[in-house]
Amino acid sequence: MRLDDDQVRRFEDEGYLFLPDVFTAAEVAVMKGELPRIFAQRRPENVRERTGDVVRTAFAVNTYDPTFAALARHPRMVEPVIQLLGGAVYIHQFKINAKAAFDGDQWQWHQDYGTWKNDDDMPDAKAMNVAVFLDDVTEFNGALMFIPRSHRIGVLEAGHDTSTTSYPLWTIDQATIRRLVGEGGLVAPKGKAGSVLLFHGNLVHASPGNLSPFDRTIVYVSLNRVDNAIRRFKRPEWIAHRDFRPIELLPDHCLMTLSRAA
Ligand code: SIN
Ligand code: MN
Repeated sequence: MRLDDDQVRRFEDEGYLFLPDVFTAAEVAVMKGELPRIFAQRRPENVRERTGDVVRTAFAVNTYDPTFAALARHPRMVEPVIQLLGGAVYIHQFKINAKAAFDGDQWQWHQDYGTWKNDDDMPDAKAMNVAVFLDDVTEFNGALMFIPRSHRIGVLEAGHDTSTTSYPLWTIDQATIRRLVGEGGLVAPKGKAGSVLLFHGNLVHASPGNLSPFDRTIVYVSLNRVDNAIRRFKRPEWIAHRDFRPIELLPDHCLMTLSRAA
């Protein structure tokens, strides 16, 4: 899948790009079919919400679930990133954020590259995220908020917040967010399951809790250029992966073929 010049320019200007209808309803159904089995597992990779037993994030699912292993090598997910980053990529992090109905907690204001630099010693911001919507994302169920163009200002100072949610995060203070929003405004891209949202590693983002009765499951794949591999191995391998080999792409139909074989 190749982005056209206008899409590349929009990504470079705004720091994100929303692509509707990248995965079909049938492909989404195949992926969603795996979720109950994944979320039921008691394993360190499944981080639960602080309120109880509901899974907040399931990390590294691509390493043990064949369906998500296929998504991790899917050309419609990976090729636009190779194009935008200008070289071969590997998976730095793979996670499913459940943002479950009623229980899904907030994600505070942050930049992902800030964490990749601080914790993992990733040399450069030559890494970015692909968000694959497995549910419709609406104004009700905790959509991501972006500050457009904030990816241009480099890495901001951040504090390590270990108490607001069940997952520690390097977060940006309120005065800085107020100033940046004053300059760049706010957007919250919404869309149907099967949509994809690409965003720059330095784009400032957050999301509110999900008070609605609708889940907001999103897969986040963080792809990094192979010549930009991390140099510190402080975090567990299931959070900051160590396999720096370039992704070998599967055929376009891989999700459907796998489901038939299963
Ligand atoms: C993230 O920023 O890593 C996750 C945000 C979300 O799932 O809303
Ligand atoms: Mn993030």
